[in-house]
Amino acid sequence: QYAPLILGIESSCDETGIGIARGTTVLANAVATSMHRHAAYGGVIPEIAARAHLEQFIPVLQQALAEADVDFADIDAIAVTAGPGLIGALMVGVAGAKALAHATGKPLYGINHLVAHVAAATAEGVQLPERTGALLVSGGHTEILKVGALTRDLELLGATRDDAAGEAYDKVARILGLGYPGGPVIDKAAQQGNPTAFKFPRGMTARKFMGTAEEPGPDRYNFSFSGLKTAVARAVEGFESRGEEPPIEDLCASFQEAVVDVLTDKAVKACTENGLENLILAGGVAANSRLRALLAERCAAANITVLTPEFNLCTDNGAMVALLGAALVSAGVPSSERDFPAVSTLP
Ligand code: KG4
Ligand code: ZN
Repeated sequence: QYAPLILGIESSCDETGIGIARGTTVLANAVATSMHRHAAYGGVIPEIAARAHLEQFIPVLQQALAEADVDFADIDAIAVTAGPGLIGALMVGVAGAKALAHATGKPLYGINHLVAHVAAATAEGVQLPERTGALLVSGGHTEILKVGALTRDLELLGATRDDAAGEAYDKVARILGLGYPGGPVIDKAAQQGNPTAFKFPRGMTARKFMGTAEEPGPDRYNFSFSGLKTAVARAVEGFESRGEEPPIEDLCASFQEAVVDVLTDKAVKACTENGLENLILAGGVAANSRLRALLAERCAAANITVLTPEFNLCTDNGAMVALLGAALVSAGVPSSERDFPAVSTLP
C-alpha cells in the first residue's frame, strides 16, 4: 500500500514547526521556537509569536525539505493546524499553507491541534488500540480525551477551567523568581524538596465537583490550577512578610505534587470509568519527571498502558500535524475547502 508523503505545518503558539511524514514514518521535524523572545515577559506574547512565525516560516520549510531529502513536488498533501491557538500565530501558518497549496495545486487539510498531539502517538507504525485515552498537558492546554478512530471519533472528557498545567508551572516559576519557561526549572528544584512540606489545594477534587463514579459531578474530569498558583503566592508572601527566605525547593516540590496528583488521579479515573485501557501522555509537561513516575505507578495499578511519544513529538511540532494528515489521506478523508479560516477556539 502506498504511504502518502505529507507536509505538516504548526504555528498555534510559539513554535514554528514544519514536519514531513511518509505514512507513519517521520522524515523531518524542523522546529524554530520564539520562546526566548518571550522570556522577559514570563509568558508568550501573541504579537511577538506571530511575527516570529512570519520570519521563520520559509527557513523552517527549507530545513524540513532538506532534512527529509525530498522535493516539494513529491509532497502529496499539506496539513496545517487551523486551531485552537493564538489567532495571529495560527493565521501565519494557515496563510502559508494556503499559499503553498494554491501555488502547487496540492490538497490541503486544516486540522485540529489537539488531535495532532494524539496523532503523534502513531509514529513509526504504532496502531492506536481501540480503547485509548489521552492526557494532553502543555503551556496552552490541559485536556483528557477519549480517542476512538483517530480520523473521526474523539471526545473531550475534561479540560482546565482556567490555567493550563504548563501555564501554572510558568506562573509559579515567575512568583519564585526562577525564570521562563518554568516547567524544567521547577521539575529540577522539586527533586531536592519535600513534596509534603506545604499542603497546597487540589483544584476541583471536592465532592461537589467530582460527584461519584455512578453520578459524576459537572467537573469530575475538569481541572483548575489558578487557586494553586494563588496559594503558592500567599505562602511566599508569608515568608517575605516575616523577613524570611522562602524555601524554594520545598515550595516547588509541594506545588508540583499538587499538579501531578490531580492530573494523574483524574486521568486514571477517566480511563477506568470509560473503559479505556491505554493512555497517551503528550504536550510539553509530559517531560515532567514526577508526572511520568506517578502516572506510570497509578496506571500500572489500574491496568492501563501508558503510551508516550518521543519527546520531540510531544511538544508542539509539525511532524505530528503531518502524521495526522497522513492518517486522513490514508483513510480517504477529503481535503478541506480552500478558504477555511484559522479558528482560535476550534472545538
Ligand atoms: O507543548 P509545549 O512545548 O508548548 C505549548 O505550550 O503548547 O509546552 C510548553 C510547556 C511550558 O509551560 C513548560 O513550562 C512546560 O511545557 N514544561 C514542563 C516541563 N518541561 C516543559 N512542565 C513541567 N515539567 C517539565 N519538565
Ligand atoms: Zn500543543
